Amino acid sequence: MGQAPSKSFDPLRDLPDIKGKVVLVTGSSSGIGFDTLRYLVKLGAKVYMAARSEERAKSAIERLEKEGKEPGNCGVLWHELDLVDPRKAKASAEKFMEKEERLDILINNAAMFVEFTLPHLNFLNDSFQYK
Ligand SMILES: NC(=O)c1ccc[n+]([C@@H]2O[C@H](COP(=O)([O-])OP(=O)(O)OC[C@H]3O[C@@H](n4cnc5c(N)ncnc54)[C@H](OP(=O)(O)O)[C@@H]3O)[C@@H](O)[C@H]2O)c1
Repeated sequence: MGQAPSKSFDPLRDLPDIKGKVVLVTGSSSGIGFDTLRYLVKLGAKVYMAARSEERAKSAIERLEKEGKEPGNCGVLWHELDLVDPRKAKASAEKFMEKEERLDILINNAAMFVEFTLPHLNFLNDSFQYK
């Protein structure tokens, strides 16, 4: 049996100082990734929102800006990433290395929801979605 999650954990109080750190969160334009990213931004990190759709990312960034940050100055940047195809994932990593000299924190949030009963998997098949 695992331990019950702590009820007293407050990310804003309990996380270490990450001001100015370069962070990338995969799949962070919605869901758990978005909420994770929201705290990292509040803590002053420079955060890359890595996901496929620029439109969805831009609208998520607008939501963050409405939460109190100055427009265009909330420390979040969209970075194109599609993990369906390893070649696209590699190209995305190479583009990131052109933008930044370092990556302090990588949060691998986007993950594939695999139906284990499938007889065989084609990992380059575009029909696979990450959940
Ligand atoms: N929600 C749950 O109850 C639950 C439970 C256990 C574990 N988890 C795990 O927690 C993580 C987040 O789940 P969630 O429910 O919060 O997800 P979600 O709300 O569905 O968000 C998915 C995120 O991933 C991005 N994404 C989707 N396909 C992608 C791809 N091929 N390449 C890169 N990014 C992609 C989406 O943006 P784009 O569509 O623009 O790419 C979006 O930002 C997943 O790893 C999931 O397996 C979730």
